[in-house]
Amino acid sequence: ALRSVVVGTGSSLPARVVTNADLAERVDTSDDWIVQRTGIRQRHLADDGETTSVLGTRAARAALDDAGLAPEDIDLVICATSTPDHTFPSTATQIQAGLGMHRGAAFDLQAVCAGFVFAVTTADKFLVTGAARRALVVGAETFSRIVDWEDRTTCVLFGDGAGAIVLEARDGEAGSAGRGVLASSLRSDGRHRDKLYVDGGPGSTGTTGHLRMEGKEVFRFAVGSVADVIADAFARSGTTAEDLDWFVPHQANRRIIEASADKLGIPREKIVLTVDRHGNTSAASIPLALDVARKDGRIREGDLVMIEAIGGGFAWGAALIRW
Ligand code: ACO
Repeated sequence: ALRSVVVGTGSSLPARVVTNADLAERVDTSDDWIVQRTGIRQRHLADDGETTSVLGTRAARAALDDAGLAPEDIDLVICATSTPDHTFPSTATQIQAGLGMHRGAAFDLQAVCAGFVFAVTTADKFLVTGAARRALVVGAETFSRIVDWEDRTTCVLFGDGAGAIVLEARDGEAGSAGRGVLASSLRSDGRHRDKLYVDGGPGSTGTTGHLRMEGKEVFRFAVGSVADVIADAFARSGTTAEDLDWFVPHQANRRIIEASADKLGIPREKIVLTVDRHGNTSAASIPLALDVARKDGRIREGDLVMIEAIGGGFAWGAALIRW
């Protein structure tokens, strides 16, 4: 049977680094408060012209280089983003054009911070059914363009960036020892809209709007719900937390990540943590973290990697990948 195997990773961060001390000059906050509550020390913020598709294209090109592939080897591009350059066309088509790629299909997928997990799950269905052979799965965001820079309770949390992986359909070993996406579990519940949303859009104010969040409510929901999809993904793949080599969660907040890992019995040293350097980059955070951990030699072929995320909606999910 076909499996979706990761054959390359790439990422791109804006050059501009903004520290907590820099933010303290803008809003009433402090390095201490931000580090203690979130674990964030700095984030990268896009400059004018560094749009989501620009960052996404750079990450995609890096992933292709890493895989030793050319744009014409790809027949599916899925971009997970909530901060597209335009309402339409999709950012994925702009990435496709940016790569100089004129074949295959490209579309965006929107599940906010959980977007990358949803996108990997979607791409996997194309690959295992033979509908596509190689997919670029990109998470790209510029949340700096939707945060309210007057609101200290949210603006300190987010950063910009993009990450990408290349998935290839391969006939491989069956069972949990074989490489590829082993299992995933997705959920959403639209009743929670008001806890995390953007207060604009074509159907409301007609302006882009700003991110609004009830932080404590999100925190409370995050830890419990994520445990359920993770348990489901383990059950579907016939593996357990003990088999895991790396836990690569959405990077929203160090406390949420550690509380989730503790609840699941995942030792701290198996957590890939980048929130300190990147902040919360929404759908980009997982592919950014995957690229960091692969290039620094932590994630290796054969490792069992769990990705998981929760975001606005709420939408949440987890996927297990044998690297
Ligand atoms: N600097 C200094 N003080 C601040 C700041 C700031 N940036 N922001 C809020 N405060 C103050 C508040 O005004 C409040 O003051 P008060 O007690 O005088 O009213 C105090 O700090 C405590 O505020 P809380 O909101 O209770 O702080 P909490 O401990 O809940 O931490 C946080 C806030 C970090 C947002 C936390 O709730 C959290 O992490 N929530 C999860 C949300 C999240 O990670 N969202 C990311 C997007 S969603 C996603 O990616 C899934």
